Amino acid sequence: MTLRNTCGLWLAGAAALTLAACGQASQTPEADDAPPPETEAAAPPQPDFAAVDTARIAAADETPDEWLSYGGNYDEHRHSGLTKVDTDNVGRLGVAWTYDLTTNRGVESTPIVVDGVMYVTSAWSVVHALDAETGEELWVYEPDVDYAVGAKACCDVVNRGVAVYNGKVYVGVIDGRLEALDAQTGELVWSTVTVDQSKPYTITGAPRVVDGKVLIGNGGAELGVRGYLSAYDAETGKRVWRFYTVPHPEKKADNAASDTALAKLANDTWDDEGAWVSDGGGGTVWDSIVYDTVNDQVIFGVGNGSPWNRDVRSPSGGDNLFLSSIVAVDADTGEYNWHFQTTPGDNWDYTATQTIILADLPLGEAGATRRVAMQAPKNGFFYVIDAATGEFISGENFVPMTWATGLDENGRPLEVAEARYGSTPVMQLPGALGAHNWQPMAFNPELDLAYIPAQEIPQAYARDPRFSDMPTKWNTGVDFSAGQPPEPPEGTIDAIRATLKGRLIAWDPLAQEARWSVEHDNAWNGGVLSTAGGLVFQGKLDGEFAAYDAATGEKLWSHDVKSGAASGPGTYAIDGEQYVTITTGWGSAYALAAGMGYDETVPSTVGKVVTFKLGGNEIIADPDLPMIERTPKAEDFASAEMVQDGTVHYARNCAVCHGQLAISSGVLPDLRWSAIAGDAEAWNSVVMDGTLSANGMVAFDDVLTPEQSEAIRGYVIRQAHIGAGEEPTGGQP
Ligand code: HEC
Repeated sequence: MTLRNTCGLWLAGAAALTLAACGQASQTPEADDAPPPETEAAAPPQPDFAAVDTARIAAADETPDEWLSYGGNYDEHRHSGLTKVDTDNVGRLGVAWTYDLTTNRGVESTPIVVDGVMYVTSAWSVVHALDAETGEELWVYEPDVDYAVGAKACCDVVNRGVAVYNGKVYVGVIDGRLEALDAQTGELVWSTVTVDQSKPYTITGAPRVVDGKVLIGNGGAELGVRGYLSAYDAETGKRVWRFYTVPHPEKKADNAASDTALAKLANDTWDDEGAWVSDGGGGTVWDSIVYDTVNDQVIFGVGNGSPWNRDVRSPSGGDNLFLSSIVAVDADTGEYNWHFQTTPGDNWDYTATQTIILADLPLGEAGATRRVAMQAPKNGFFYVIDAATGEFISGENFVPMTWATGLDENGRPLEVAEARYGSTPVMQLPGALGAHNWQPMAFNPELDLAYIPAQEIPQAYARDPRFSDMPTKWNTGVDFSAGQPPEPPEGTIDAIRATLKGRLIAWDPLAQEARWSVEHDNAWNGGVLSTAGGLVFQGKLDGEFAAYDAATGEKLWSHDVKSGAASGPGTYAIDGEQYVTITTGWGSAYALAAGMGYDETVPSTVGKVVTFKLGGNEIIADPDLPMIERTPKAEDFASAEMVQDGTVHYARNCAVCHGQLAISSGVLPDLRWSAIAGDAEAWNSVVMDGTLSANGMVAFDDVLTPEQSEAIRGYVIRQAHIGAGEEPTGGQP
């Protein structure tokens, strides 16, 4: 490959900023507990490889040949200024190259492209550096994860990407490490454990880097953790500040940047008792983190409550700050600036971690612009808030919803009373998978349109009558078996599928209404890329990767990428040639828990990077997957009571990984057709003794009795007998 001169592309684009990017070393950050650098020489040396600094990312719009940070620029527009591929010629887009990510788990990564090198992650936080022109592999970094941590991952062992800064590549590892790699060689520079690894924390999000500080949050609120965002010194890996999003269990100070804000604003919004005290309360910062260059602040999205059910979490009620909120803190110190809570007293897993986009919208008098933050969180409302103050400007629902009738003048939802469910199941929209999930939203600043990957996935919520804290397992306080028949009548799966919808919505944030929308037959659609060529790119889990006219939504091109295509696509240019790229793979929360069967709409399980250019004519290899033998592996032995019992315990403990109604999507084994399910002893050793725990199938003897384990087996075998042949045959590795 040709390694591009670090400053070459840069010089061409933004002469005024070359000094900052190429002539000077970036500043050493002042860690609050690190000694200040003694001399000039203590500043990190300017690398001649991947010399990205804050100024370079801040000016990303002027160098569209690269894709410098997760959201494309600090405002996270995912809008590229490249115009070589446009509405006239997009039909000629073909495959330039593919690269095999060698995984059969979910892939959610947005590639970063710097100086002709692509940095992309795969499942299990593996980092790949490729020649962006040819797809040739430069290096691979394996963080050597113990696969047993897969059991902590609510939503598959995915990773959404890296950050590149000052010659280093930063990756958040699924087991809670934050690591810095040499961008040229892939060698480990430093590794910092950012979580208490005895707790069910995970990291799936992409780090962001601002002024020498790497920002990273974590996940785990389904099982039970306390959320926070931390900043680490980019050179040393030493922690600079931390902001906890929910109170300390004893409501005392942590000696952290969040102390004052929690004491003043949050502590009183939580009960003194309740399951949050042991489960950590949730509020994990697992996805969106943006740097507001104008107000020198970090704005981040906070996740759901732990447990989900507020009656269990904080029995006397309360808004439970800062759950489901957008929070802004000072970039240098992490001190609180403002917050806006989208879902007070979250009860439904309505995270506000979804894409936050900053923009200057003509909202003022005589067209004067106002800097705003926009988000379309899981709860189904599109919010426009003031970026400097957090003041609510406007909000409107972007999908049909049953839980609220609108927002009041402060942006507080007008809840429907039944939405605070009790023991009777309430079917609700949006459900826990949200009206919008991690799939990145994009924004076209020329058209002032946001492009939302929206979804309609209803969910039945009911209080879990059996709730008790299970330290290493899911703790939601919600009964996932509510309303579920032990023997779903024929046609149940088709009926459920018919209620699931996906949609690409071009949302006008000024008018707070859809300008156009495209209906998809698959609910879990993909992240979005907007380009100055007048295009919007989006993939779907069924493998269709398509380009739409940004102004009208007309579909102009599509290509079958032969695997799930839910990641945020990207674009870049080398020697005047524009490339469009997307990572593919089959997995993630939806595929594991609610995939509802694998069939011809779920093409493959092998992850890839697929990169297109005009006139590209490479072929994406067909997946070569063995067919699965769909015959029950045992006699149908269980009594009606046993199957009833198995329904409840399967839904509680197994469905999130092996699939609702015992129908797997093919990512993890479909227990109906498992030989192990056909053998009581083998089943017992896997389920109760944990013989496969090294692969993420942990023992359940801490939460199940032997009778309950056997009831699950009876239920699974029954599903094999009643479901045999119902769905089309597909492949499973
Ligand atoms: C956190 C995700 C997760 C949960 C929850 C989970 N499993 Fe698993 N399970 C796995 C993984 C991963 C494997 C594959 C392990 C391997 O490849 O060795 C697996 C494999 C199995 C197997 C072996 C299947 C085969 O044919 O190889 C059985 C049986 C099984 N699980 C039963 C259960 C039961 C019963 C429950 C609920 C009580 C459950 N699992 C909950 C992740 C999970």
